[in-house]
This record gives sequence, C-alpha cells and structure tokens, in this order.
Amino acid sequence: MSADVIFEPLRFRNLEVKNRILRSNISGRFDNYDGSGTQARINWEEKFARGGVGAIVSSYSPVHVRGRILPNYATIDRDERIPFWRRVGEAVHRHDCKFILQLSHSGRQQDVGGVENLGLKALSSTSKTEPFHGFECRAMTLEEIAETIDCFAEGARRAREAGLDGVELHAANGYLITQFLSSGINDRKDQYGGSLENRARFLLDIVRAIRRRVGEDFHLQVKISAVDHNNAVIFWDKRGNTLEDSIRVCRWLEEAGADALHVSTGSMFPHPRNPAGGLPVDVARETYDTMLSSGLYTFRNYLLARWAPLRPIFRFLWTRTVRNLAVEAANVQDARAIKDNVSIPVLCTGGFQTASVIRRVIEEGSCDAVTIARPLIANNDLVKTFAAGHDRPERPCTYCNRCLVNVIENPLGCYEPLRYDGDRERMLREVMSVYQPTGFE
Ligand SMILES: Cc1cc2nc3c(=O)[nH]c(=O)nc-3n(C[C@H](O)[C@H](O)[C@H](O)COP(=O)(O)O)c2cc1C
Ligand code: SF4
Repeated sequence: MSADVIFEPLRFRNLEVKNRILRSNISGRFDNYDGSGTQARINWEEKFARGGVGAIVSSYSPVHVRGRILPNYATIDRDERIPFWRRVGEAVHRHDCKFILQLSHSGRQQDVGGVENLGLKALSSTSKTEPFHGFECRAMTLEEIAETIDCFAEGARRAREAGLDGVELHAANGYLITQFLSSGINDRKDQYGGSLENRARFLLDIVRAIRRRVGEDFHLQVKISAVDHNNAVIFWDKRGNTLEDSIRVCRWLEEAGADALHVSTGSMFPHPRNPAGGLPVDVARETYDTMLSSGLYTFRNYLLARWAPLRPIFRFLWTRTVRNLAVEAANVQDARAIKDNVSIPVLCTGGFQTASVIRRVIEEGSCDAVTIARPLIANNDLVKTFAAGHDRPERPCTYCNRCLVNVIENPLGCYEPLRYDGDRERMLREVMSVYQPTGFE
C-alpha cells in the first residue's frame, strides 16, 4: 500500500477504486440531438481515465427525455442506448478506471428542453415558477411520480447491462429529486410533500426501486446538496433544507441501500457556491441568449449580462453572499458533518486541486475521497502531476467559470485565456481536441 493516502484504494461495499480522486460529473453538449452518444463523448471521458483518476462519475444522463437540461447529452432512457454506454465503459476500463453513470432528471430546471419538451410545462414537485430563470412547471401527478421512479430503476438496469461499475442518483443542485427534497421548493400536500420524511420519499422510493431492479451488489451512490442556500441570489426566495435535514436524509439513504454519498451544495445550478469562483458576465453575454425563450426571467438576466453598465448589478447579486468563501474544499465541513453520521464512504466535491489539501481532508476524516471537475478540465492529468510529487499543477484552474458559462452553447473545455498565455489558437485547439480521434493505448 502506498504511504500517500491519495493513492490508497477506496473500497465501497460493491466496488473498489484504485485511488482517492474521482472525476466529478461534467456535462457537455458532445452527443447527438436525439440523445444517442458520439465518439466525442467517449474521447472526453477517456481523457480523464488516461490522466489517472480512479473513477469517473459521468455527466448528467437523463433517464427520460422530458428530464433533459439541454439537448446533445447522451441519455439512458431506452435499451438502444446500452451499446453506446458499453463502449464508454470499455474505453475508460482500459485505463484501470471505473465508470459510474449519473442518473438524472431536470424537473423544472431545464435550460433548453429540446423539441420533445416544446410547449410542455416541465414536471416538478411543484407548480411554482423557478425563481432565477423563471422556468415554468407543473406538479407531477402520483402516476407520473411512479413512472419516473421506474425510469430511474430502468436507467440503473441499463447501466448494469452496459457493464458499467455503478450509478449515481443526481439528488443535488436543484434538479428533480432536489425539487422534492427541498423545503424551499416542494409545496405538495400529499405523501410526497410536507415533512422531511415525505419530501425524502421520492428519493428513497427510487433507491428501493433500483435495489429491487439490479440487486444489492451493484454500486449505487447519491449526490446530495448538503445545504440548500436557497436565498443566495434572489432576495425573496425561501430558504430550504439545512445541514441537519440532509444528515437525516443521508442516514435514511444508508438504510435504504445507498453505498456512498457525494456531497455538493446549493439548490440550483449553477449557484454562487457551486461551482464557486468567478462570474464571467462577458461570456454570459455571448451564450445566455441560448436560453432566452426558456424562462420568464431569462430576458431580464440577459439584459443584466448584455449591457456593461448593468453588469455590476448582476455581479453584486451573484456574489453578495459568497465574498469570503474559499473555493478549494468549500464543502468539506458539510461532508465532515455527514460522514460523522453515516458509515458508508463520503465523497466531497468543490474546488480541489492541491495534493496537500486533498491529503489533509482525507487524513483528518472529513471525507473518504474527493471528486474534481474544473481543475481536471484545466489539467486532465492532475493525478499524474500529484503522483510525480507536485503539490499543484503549473497552470492551475483559476475557477473563472468560463467553461461553465460557455457550455450551454459551445464545446466544453477550458476557456481561461490566462492558462494559454493569451494564445487563442492554442486554447481553441485544446477545446476542440475532444473531436480528434484519440487512438487506443
Ligand atoms: C461545466 C460543468 C458541468 C457540470 N455538469 C455537472 C453534471 O452534469 N452533474 C453534476 O452533478 N454536476 C455537474 N457539475 C458540477 C461538478 O460536478 C462539481 O460538483 C462542481 O463543479 C464543483 O467541483 P469543482 O470545483 O471541482 O469544479 C458541472 C460543473 C461544471 C463546471
Ligand atoms: S475555464 Fe478553465 S480555468 Fe476557468 S474554471 Fe473552467 S477549467 Fe478552470
């Protein structure tokens, strides 16, 4: 066993990962409009496997086409998708890396729903309009809830049939499952609303349905927002779940058969705390127009980004509650509080890119492993950099969030000019590299 805790294997109940760094979920519009996958997606995932992470937790994979957030994400909504995901898994496995598929449904948080959702209100726990973009929605019927639970179970079955190593339920960041969990969003009066027990019922029903469908020996983890921080941007928005609420939900998840917890934060995505860092309003001016017709307030938001004199207002609203927030390890105290109350492994997301910080949070028992998104977009081989004895990469991620704000319209990649010494051509070559054949090692 290595003396460095980062390179010690991580043993879940049903899965072993070779080290303590997992690639966190990173969506990108790499696939076909209809949700079938492409070679670019395979290249994208393989990049990180080659770079040495122990496991990849996939991008947002819709279990139903009504649950898309954007077109061009590969779905897991039908059996015809299984061969594609098998290819993704095989490509990643060649690098001794595991692949965990994120089963997802947008609910009302639907940036661009695509033709299948045109003219339809998004499904949610509530009929209340989403407060930031103004996405309209309607509360699901009990029959629709039962159908959606089944879609998640079917997604897990397909992932297993594709030879993948496990699934993650996306119960974080404001998507459908969060819309049920959150006291700030869920206003139902039936058995799926009201008390925390009732609000958690949808998630727990999904966990139990998955266990019935795939058995006890398939890895199942849950990504959860530890604290809602609902009112961070919108002054009048209701505050949602507290850390104490989430700890109770995590205990129930463990009892229901979850194998691990992945700790995130915030009840919408993106959120000032997630991913924490810059707000590139200049990029939003170029890309947010993609969403103009999606919500009632998107035009207001676009004006705030479009006109330079209004941008300070946008920036003020976005950053007013997070001014002194450290980005690296931002969620580690929440992860610690959850870890102290469960016996399954806890993964923590949020800003990690320094080996000594990662080592410390694992050694002090705040989490069992970290998951990384942006710093791995910037440096795909971050783990190899650590293995070579460096504490930080030479050109670290600056947390500028240009990747994030580009992704609604442009290919996913690192768009930070500082990291390319202002060489725009090099930046574009790097971003577009995912479309080049990689060749197998
Ligand atoms: C471009 C981009 C896309 C993301 N897509 C997803 C996603 O599909 N599902 C998810 O749960 N989180 C997603 N996230 C959140 C990350 O997985 C991660 O939890 C968050 O960015 C904080 O980690 P970091 O500081 O290492 O980036 C995304 C983040 C970025 C920047
Ligand atoms: S654009 Fe690059 S530097 Fe900026 S947050 Fe994304 S990965 Fe990091």
